[in-house]
Amino acid sequence: MQKNSIAAAFRIILIICLICSFIVSSATVMLYSRQQENQRLDKIKNILIAADLYDEDENIEAAFKEHIEPLIIALDTGERLPEDQFDDMLNIDHFDIQMLANDPVHGEDIAPQIDIAKLKRRPRYMLVYFVKTQGRTEKLILPVYGKGLWSTLYGYLALNRDLKTIDGITFYQHGETPGLGGEVDNPKWQQLWKGKLAFDDSGKVAIQVLRGLADPESDKARYQIDGLAGATLTSRGVDKLINYWLGENGYGPFLGRLREQWLMDRR
Ligand SMILES: Cc1cc2nc3c(=O)[nH]c(=O)nc-3n(C[C@H](O)[C@H](O)[C@H](O)COP(=O)(O)O)c2cc1C
Repeated sequence: MQKNSIAAAFRIILIICLICSFIVSSATVMLYSRQQENQRLDKIKNILIAADLYDEDENIEAAFKEHIEPLIIALDTGERLPEDQFDDMLNIDHFDIQMLANDPVHGEDIAPQIDIAKLKRRPRYMLVYFVKTQGRTEKLILPVYGKGLWSTLYGYLALNRDLKTIDGITFYQHGETPGLGGEVDNPKWQQLWKGKLAFDDSGKVAIQVLRGLADPESDKARYQIDGLAGATLTSRGVDKLINYWLGENGYGPFLGRLREQWLMDRR
């Protein structure tokens, strides 16, 4: 009798476990497309925030469509990738940085001596955005990513048309500690980036995230961002990832091409 009741109890436990795992896995499968859609919308929102175009009362997809022109560029040459070279993986609608970086064709290793953002691999191409007002490009939005303390931080840096001044920064994905490294999401800290200079007069990347506070009296203050309190390692990670992506091994060739092109347009 007792034996039977133990077996019956286990049977019931097993049935409950099976039902629960069925519910959880069905929910995961059914919610997958909604999660993907939410991630896509979150990226759009972050691009608009970086571009200073986000208004919570407005339809973000409409604002994105009106002002933002996406394009895929080859990182080594800075050239635009024509649409006839898009494929299932490499296209504007489904551009997944991690998937492309890990792909043997679309990704490549980064030599350790230049891998300051600790990425190991990267896509050969990146999806960047022109921010347009009345048909004229006013800003560029450059996706940036690199290691913090606990996680890889993914974000967007907005660069003014002068290709020197930073117009904004946002991070749409990271796993840093809330209240410490997670303060990269704090609008007050993000505000500090606006108007800072990314490059010095010789064209070298000069923007720095400090350990501690910038001295507003210093000549260098226009290139300096206060570090996050209690989060020196995340701050250093952000410093490195921005320096990597703005440098010669990141968007350098693309920015060089734009500089030449926009200079010619002014003549
Ligand atoms: C639970 C815990 C979480 C932490 N999270 C972060 C973090 O997200 N980013 C970071 O840079 N430091 C984080 N730290 C602190 C680092 O270990 C390190 O002490 C800190 O980066 C040094 O910064 P400070 O010189 O500004 O104090 C964390 C520490 C603890 C104990």
